[in-house]
Amino acid sequence: MLAILELALLSVAALASPGTTNTDLSGNLLVNSDVAQEPLAGSPVAFYNPVDKGGSMFDNTGNGLGEPLNVIISGFSSPKVIASGIDGLLNYARAIGFSEECLDIHLGSPFSANLGDGNSWVNQTIELRQDYGSSELGTCLETLIGGNHFRVYIQNGPWADSGALFLAVSKEEDVETGHDIVPDGYNIGRDQLVAHAVGAKSFDDITYYTVAQNITGLMPAGSAGVNHGIAVDGIVTLLTVSVTE
Ligand SMILES: *[C@@H]1O[C@H](CO)[C@@H](O)[C@H](O)[C@H]1NC(C)=O
Ligand SMILES: *[C@@H]1O[C@H](CO)[C@@H](O)[C@H](O)[C@H]1NC(C)=O
Repeated sequence: MLAILELALLSVAALASPGTTNTDLSGNLLVNSDVAQEPLAGSPVAFYNPVDKGGSMFDNTGNGLGEPLNVIISGFSSPKVIASGIDGLLNYARAIGFSEECLDIHLGSPFSANLGDGNSWVNQTIELRQDYGSSELGTCLETLIGGNHFRVYIQNGPWADSGALFLAVSKEEDVETGHDIVPDGYNIGRDQLVAHAVGAKSFDDITYYTVAQNITGLMPAGSAGVNHGIAVDGIVTLLTVSVTE
């Protein structure tokens, strides 16, 4: 009886956390723990490591270089965020300070990513920009003065159907300087997005509760192959989002 109870508790714990507590000295999750698990039919996982099946933790900007996929929204997150299409994602993004691009002005071409899920290289699902407190006009401001933005890719192919969202987050310069990335703009963009996301955030009657964990060992640190030659610190932040109504 006790054993059955313990097993039940363990299963609940396994569902609630993205893996074991295998961490490095700074408390970061290590990717060679079972954070990125082997496919097991029907059981949810946080995400699969794209590199295991020929993918990459960098998107393809079309010039042979890439942007880091530096934030992952875990497959353990609420279906309201990761399995409700663009609308579900947009509502969450609005809750944490982003909205659709200003007046559909889109500067630049889509970038593709290969998440090792069997879908090969796929263009971004959507690109969102920080809205500076107004989901109607804020992104216009962002387009002009520069700010935080991210592209979204979904890991949902047949080889690795975690449902996790991989985000390429960066902080840009203003439009006069050609919308390039600010120095250290990948690390800064990631940390700003995460700072806006953690804790309880609401939009349109949905309250999200987001927990962040850093992962090391998934993405190489440095500037080799990185767009604009801007070095990354190699940290990927895993967000797990639950919904309370
Ligand atoms: C991405 O979109 C561009 C522009 O629409 C298109 O030319 C390109 O083939 C697409 N790439 C992929 C991998 O689908
Ligand atoms: C993740 O790493 C960044 C950069 O070192 C740090 O600022 C942030 O506090 C860390 N977040 C967590 C949840 O450990």
